[in-house]
Amino acid sequence: MSEPKIRVAVVFGGRSTEHAISCVSAASVLANVDTERFDVLPVGITPEGAWVLAPGASTLAIEGGALPSVTAGTEVVLSGPRFVELREAGASGVLDDVDVVIPMLHGAYGEDGTIQGLLEMSGIPYVGSGVLASAVSMDKAFTKRILAAEGLPVGEYELLTRNDRTLSQEQRDRLGLPVFVKPCRAGSSHGISKVTDWAELDDAIAFARSVDPKVLVEAAVAGREVECGVLEFPDGRVEASLPAEVQTDSDWYDFEAKYLDESLELHIPAKLDDAVLEKVRALAVHAFKAVDGEGLARVDFFVTDDGDVLVNELNTMPGCTPSSAYPKMWAVTGIDFKTLVSTLIDTALARGSGLR
Ligand SMILES: Nc1ncnc2c1ncn2[C@@H]1O[C@H](COP(=O)(O)OP(=O)(O)O)[C@@H](O)[C@H]1O
Ligand SMILES: [Mg+2]
Repeated sequence: MSEPKIRVAVVFGGRSTEHAISCVSAASVLANVDTERFDVLPVGITPEGAWVLAPGASTLAIEGGALPSVTAGTEVVLSGPRFVELREAGASGVLDDVDVVIPMLHGAYGEDGTIQGLLEMSGIPYVGSGVLASAVSMDKAFTKRILAAEGLPVGEYELLTRNDRTLSQEQRDRLGLPVFVKPCRAGSSHGISKVTDWAELDDAIAFARSVDPKVLVEAAVAGREVECGVLEFPDGRVEASLPAEVQTDSDWYDFEAKYLDESLELHIPAKLDDAVLEKVRALAVHAFKAVDGEGLARVDFFVTDDGDVLVNELNTMPGCTPSSAYPKMWAVTGIDFKTLVSTLIDTALARGSGLR
């Protein structure tokens, strides 16, 4: 008799601004699960927060510039002694017992420790970082504080909490122009603007605040954008992929450049000196460990012309769309998408749940 298959729920969509990208990421993960070993249950979360048994992968791609979304489906209720049990609404039996969850959610209510907490409460193993690492990495200000405290290089910034109206003259002088104004807890460049004249600052703050009341204002770093994949193996080893350089025709890497622009190019490995590539890889693993990361992350950097390397941010559930850097970097490093997904699941199962 063959081994029973491991049941994997892939959860996607969700309440954040990155709903659509999460759907596309989930579609590529669903297409790359090893069906010899795993049975998959796709579970969508609508933008309003309802859980539904979602349609298959075919309807989850970006088509002709239109973004996908979880809309209808059989409603799922979360209930039971373990809290997370998936039942069809109105039915009495448990729909499916799940061995492990892939929370393929980006942004708030997903990548930020919230679903990780729900799964911890339920004792269900899941792919990726736990509550603390997810929450810290989602918050760009806390990320910088922790990385700086660990001696990692980060850029200059000022934080505006919800009661701070704008930057003082002293803060403006310290940062200098241009600056990037961004929501503290978002992704896919939502709510971000580049400000080249202080007269534009308050509008940029208001725009960022439409996504998150906490806003970060960063000194612009002149440099190349380099990303590096981090992967944890079931035996606890943590490795960095070959880094990628992102190049676009646009001035900076905004939403269109990321997902809709044909001019986007990824160079893997990034065309940098070997010493700089190795520095990026070492810093990626260091940053991952500094926030107590688990499973996977993509660590993003700026590399200046002098070869200085600054950590921009950590993404604990990086995009896995067909154009995403994370799976591509691993493919060039020698781990294809299917092996990558199996590794993520095996690492989650090896770790189990609870304090570790
Ligand atoms: N301090 C900065 N200096 C230069 N470019 C920046 C800076 N901050 C953000 N950017 C540009 O904006 C993009 C998105 O910013 P990022 O902080 O990575 O937010 P997100 O989480 O939305 O990806 C970056 O990839 C880069 O192109
Ligand atoms: Mg980014």
